[in-house]
Amino acid sequence: MPEEIGLFEAIYTQRAIREFKPDPVPDEMVRKLIEAATKAPSGSNRQSWRFMVIRDYELKRKIGEYYNQARSSRYGTGAPPSNIPAGRRAASDYMAEHLRDVPVLILACIEHDGAPSTMSRGGSIYPAVQNLLLAARGLGLGSVITSLHKRYEDEIKGLLGIPENVETAALLPVGFPADGARYGPTRRAPVHEVTFYDRWGASK
Ligand SMILES: Cc1cc2nc3c(=O)[nH]c(=O)nc-3n(C[C@H](O)[C@H](O)[C@H](O)COP(=O)(O)O)c2cc1C
Repeated sequence: MPEEIGLFEAIYTQRAIREFKPDPVPDEMVRKLIEAATKAPSGSNRQSWRFMVIRDYELKRKIGEYYNQARSSRYGTGAPPSNIPAGRRAASDYMAEHLRDVPVLILACIEHDGAPSTMSRGGSIYPAVQNLLLAARGLGLGSVITSLHKRYEDEIKGLLGIPENVETAALLPVGFPADGARYGPTRRAPVHEVTFYDRWGASK
């Protein structure tokens, strides 16, 4: 395990990594990522999260095909939309086309009671996903929260034998960042632009 970095360094530098070295990710690291995820809060502490660790090449290939199709139907295959920087588009395209080669995919899921999906259901799995991303940063791994697979959720659930009462929340490719794939700093709006005081829209 690498030397640990500070909490705020991890928060400030965690970012979407979409290109990976082929080096395998040791089981112990994957276990640690999931353990970090399970330290997150969830509604009534139900901990209904479930994590699928996918290393099988054929499964990764099939999931990659669905993901790539979803990406093409969402964004098309032509010129990048102007709101997506060219570099990110290139990395996103690369990942979509090479998901099968990512060392490990982690599918974060949540069990539910059959009611329609709600914000609070998401609120009981996405904190765990964020913990996992931060832990990946801490271990010198890269990952990115992705959701395009949702367009083929039924097919992917069928492929992996995921039961009806389970929703998939995020597909997380995990590996060591490729040379040139860098951690943050990230570009985010400053606090004063996103914070109001006492009345909506009021700055300090
Ligand atoms: C709910 C959600 C869904 C996302 N889905 C995808 C996705 O399907 N594919 C992808 O490449 N990135 C996806 N992302 C990653 C975002 O594009 C990324 O976090 C954002 O652009 C910030 O990138 P940065 O951390 O490198 O600054 C998603 C992020 C969130 C929060």
